[in-house]
Amino acid sequence: MKISVLVGLQWGDEGKGKMIDVLTPEYDIIARFQGGPNAGHTLLFNGEKCVLCSIPSGIFHGKKNVIGNGMVLDPVLFRSEIEMLSFFHLDLTDNIYISRRAHLILPTHRLLDKAYEAQKGVNKIGTTGKGIGPAYIDKVSRNGLRIGDIDCDFEKKYIDKTYRHKKLLQQMNFKYDLASIEKEWVESIEIIKQFNRIDTDDFINKALNKGETVLAEGAQGTMLDVDFGSYPFVTSSNTVCAGACIGLGVSPTKIGDVFGIFKAYCTRVGSGPFPTELSDSIGEKLRSIGNEYGSVTGRSRRCGWIDLVALRYAIIINGVTQLIMTKSDVLDSFEIVKICIAYEINGRKTKKIPFEINSSVKPVYKELPGWKTDMSNVDSEDKFPKAFEDYLEFLEVFLEKNIKIVSVGPGRNQTIVRNKLKQL
Ligand code: IMP
Ligand code: MG
Repeated sequence: MKISVLVGLQWGDEGKGKMIDVLTPEYDIIARFQGGPNAGHTLLFNGEKCVLCSIPSGIFHGKKNVIGNGMVLDPVLFRSEIEMLSFFHLDLTDNIYISRRAHLILPTHRLLDKAYEAQKGVNKIGTTGKGIGPAYIDKVSRNGLRIGDIDCDFEKKYIDKTYRHKKLLQQMNFKYDLASIEKEWVESIEIIKQFNRIDTDDFINKALNKGETVLAEGAQGTMLDVDFGSYPFVTSSNTVCAGACIGLGVSPTKIGDVFGIFKAYCTRVGSGPFPTELSDSIGEKLRSIGNEYGSVTGRSRRCGWIDLVALRYAIIINGVTQLIMTKSDVLDSFEIVKICIAYEINGRKTKKIPFEINSSVKPVYKELPGWKTDMSNVDSEDKFPKAFEDYLEFLEVFLEKNIKIVSVGPGRNQTIVRNKLKQL
């Protein structure tokens, strides 16, 4: 069997949680491969809204859920997620598998995240403050603490690591109170001990050989990838499809379908370049209809028109085989819909992502008439208004890829699989 991968094609929050939930019934194993509690995957379960941060979305379907070696895990937030899920009477201990190679987020990583941001001042990244960057720094600089360390001389290793962190915090003159957050962290380590701790490479490859199906659940989005995103305003992991190979231990030859998700407009949380950003009433309208507030931090998301330059780049890097568009219903009442088809940089037009996306990058727009139809109850492609069909066709021709699935609302039934795809 091959493994399917689902990734975000923009700056995160493309609606991955809902789509994973829709796709999950077809898979035996759902695996997260990068990131950690900076992610917030929102889905509806029995009509209730739930946000998952570290635990894969298959948990609501009784599937096996893998926390891959490429992830960073905060025991305290993992525990609160487990407590939240226990209300739903799900089988948790049997269905969650944590990689021994995944790295732990220490309480001092969270402090360092805040200290580094404070030091950057106006140039701050606007991180989620969950300690993601510092945990990955320690992984790459070979100072990290891993899940597997819990069983072996853990206290000594923990003291060594935090000693280094305390010195760094001191150098930055950062005031903190570690005692209280350290206590709940140590207690939460005991909760992790109740779960299956495995080698994900072995687990997933054996499962594939037995004919089991695996869906890798990406977090954040391509434009936040540490290599291919809008660096340095990115997260600290590889959010693109290739990250699934490293973050789970599967070969590139084992990748099958790549589901690429994008919203019919764009959003971004935190700082960093965003060429199509709208700081006017239209941006406000997108935010309010689309309910664009961060599911992890509650921050307002910056909103703007869809950016096809960035989207085409993301489709290529991920090798998307199935393109999925979400939240087009948010545009239902718009008279005109704008689409960014090129960037103008110092008077020159380009369709390529520049080395640095800065304030000299101006979007070039194509305007299409809005479809002015409530799409939230549309259940088949035969009922698409003409203007909506034209909009889809414009995107498909530009992107050189068919849009296979259109999501018109948060519910599972608001998902339209298209069968009559145009030859491009
Ligand atoms: P970090 O991942 O907390 O280090 O944050 C780095 C950047 O990525 C910040 O701009 C965050 O707002 C953004 N970010 C991190 N995780 C997510 C996510 O799941 N959705 C959207 N933005 C995210
Ligand atoms: Mg999110």
